[in-house]
Amino acid sequence: MVLSVGGSLLNPGQPDFAFIKQLASLLKKLKTKYQLAVVCGGGVPARENASHIRKLGGSEFLADEVAILSTRMNAMMLLSALGEDAYPVVAESFKEAMNAMNSGKIVLMGGTIPGITTDTDAALLAEGIGAKRIVNLSNVDGVYSGDPKKDKNAKKLQRMSFSQLTQLASQYDERKAGTRFVFDLIACKLIARSMIETHFIYGKNFAEVQSAIEGKIHPGTLVR
Ligand code: UTP
Repeated sequence: MVLSVGGSLLNPGQPDFAFIKQLASLLKKLKTKYQLAVVCGGGVPARENASHIRKLGGSEFLADEVAILSTRMNAMMLLSALGEDAYPVVAESFKEAMNAMNSGKIVLMGGTIPGITTDTDAALLAEGIGAKRIVNLSNVDGVYSGDPKKDKNAKKLQRMSFSQLTQLASQYDERKAGTRFVFDLIACKLIARSMIETHFIYGKNFAEVQSAIEGKIHPGTLVR
């Protein structure tokens, strides 16, 4: 299965050492039962480094490239905490990650190519390795019917179909930058076409994270 870890959990300005260590010990525990591939997001350094590139006149391509490096740096932090339970290098491509799965170790990946996000990387990797499930960890505890920061009536959706998720993501996609949906539109379309069950969980509640990895009931959102 594929675990997608939001960059804002791993690095909200500097590495969240406590979070990374706790996540690593949970993954070590679950490694014997599940073949795990973990895609790490970029967090604050990705946004900052991308903005430095833009300030200096660099292209959006270059801004994405530098953000991808930040995702890989975060993956290296988790790699360090996992020690020998992890495949010893951060995969830089899907094929590298797919080959590394044969090692029986936890495989880590960050971003891959400019123009996408790690949500899409997680969905593509899940297709590539034939994963039945993606668990998406972020700062929010599920998928809401609207933006919970702005809309008081926004409700957490416990169960959703692929098409409901895609519809919600495309509503957000039409808006201006600043409002980000929990999962990007391309990623929604990929999980829908391959029918990959996807769980959205608040990443700092490790009991819930474990339940989601094990496919058990949890208070987050289940899309299938
Ligand atoms: P992320 O997908 O890491 O966002 O992409 P994030 O850090 O998890 O988001 P939060 O923290 O949960 O809110 C960070 C940036 O890296 C580039 C894009 O610029 C993206 O906005 N990126 C990432 C790519 O260009 N290609 C990839 O494959 C992945």
